[in-house]
Amino acid sequence: MKRIYVTGSRGMLGKALVPLLNLEYEVRATDLPEYDIRDGSSIIGDIVSFSPDYIFHLASMTDVDGCEIDPDQAYLSNTVGTRNVALASKETDAVMIYISTGMIYNGRKKYPYIEYDRPDPVNVYGSTKYQGELEIRKLLKKFYIFNTCWVFGGGKEDKKFVQKILKLAGENKTLKIVDDKIGSPTYTLDLARTIIDLIETGQYGRYHCVNEGTVTRFGLAKKILEIAGISGCELIPVCSDEFVLAAPRPYMEGMINYRTMLMGLQPMRPWEDALEEYIKDPA
Ligand SMILES: NC(=O)c1ccc[n+]([C@@H]2O[C@H](COP(=O)([O-])OP(=O)(O)OC[C@H]3O[C@@H](n4cnc5c(N)ncnc54)[C@H](OP(=O)(O)O)[C@@H]3O)[C@@H](O)[C@H]2O)c1
Repeated sequence: MKRIYVTGSRGMLGKALVPLLNLEYEVRATDLPEYDIRDGSSIIGDIVSFSPDYIFHLASMTDVDGCEIDPDQAYLSNTVGTRNVALASKETDAVMIYISTGMIYNGRKKYPYIEYDRPDPVNVYGSTKYQGELEIRKLLKKFYIFNTCWVFGGGKEDKKFVQKILKLAGENKTLKIVDDKIGSPTYTLDLARTIIDLIETGQYGRYHCVNEGTVTRFGLAKKILEIAGISGCELIPVCSDEFVLAAPRPYMEGMINYRTMLMGLQPMRPWEDALEEYIKDPA
């Protein structure tokens, strides 16, 4: 049985991915506080002693504003930590799988990004994740990088956008939601399934991996309430200037899975269908 090492396994994506990996592989699922990717010798030692065939590197400082406020910690976690995992991949000859973001682009494009667009991050989080990609490219030949966006999932433990909107809509008559930022909402389960299918192809490289379609935060919130059947809360579209945040957000984070499309692979389903399944049966 092939062996898989996972970092950041207790995060939102890890919770969807690890149970699927357990069906087919021998998995070592690690996370903070015991396994810290910033501690090079310790994490490399643990990976080398497990001797995996694949390393899923999910661990990351994902608080976008937190990264802006503390860039040293952001580079340490997202760039140096990723380099540490890549060094372990090199030593064990394992295939590395890294999850990156649509925030590697500057967001000034009017249309969704494809893999051949030029990265140019506008905030510290995007920059540290992109530098992580470059560390992998420098060190490894056998890697997959998956750029994804506005991930939702987590079921009962969901504290992100979907659950926030459902909770706030239950407590308020009106809600102001940003209508000038565009993304590709992506369901953890769809992301996990697509990644697992792709890693056995041997077609290494960088892929966009998002549910099909794009929407603004306002449009996403509207759809969440529509699916949940909540009608007592009015959503008001506002400009992002109304909310002061530490990190600038790109206007366009939406992406197209262009490479898998060119390869003739099955497209990921539209985000609306995935969202409906998630809200009706949260997993
Ligand atoms: N969520 C999104 O919308 C999104 C979009 C694009 C890309 N991504 C990428 O997808 C990957 C998974 O994201 P996610 O949504 O599952 O994030 P998440 O829920 O924040 O999970 C990340 C996990 O990594 C752990 N971690 C943080 N620093 C670590 C360190 N130094 N050593 C070991 N573990 C550490 C976290 O532990 P603590 O909770 O204890 O800090 C957490 O369990 C990340 O690489 C992220 O950058 C996510």
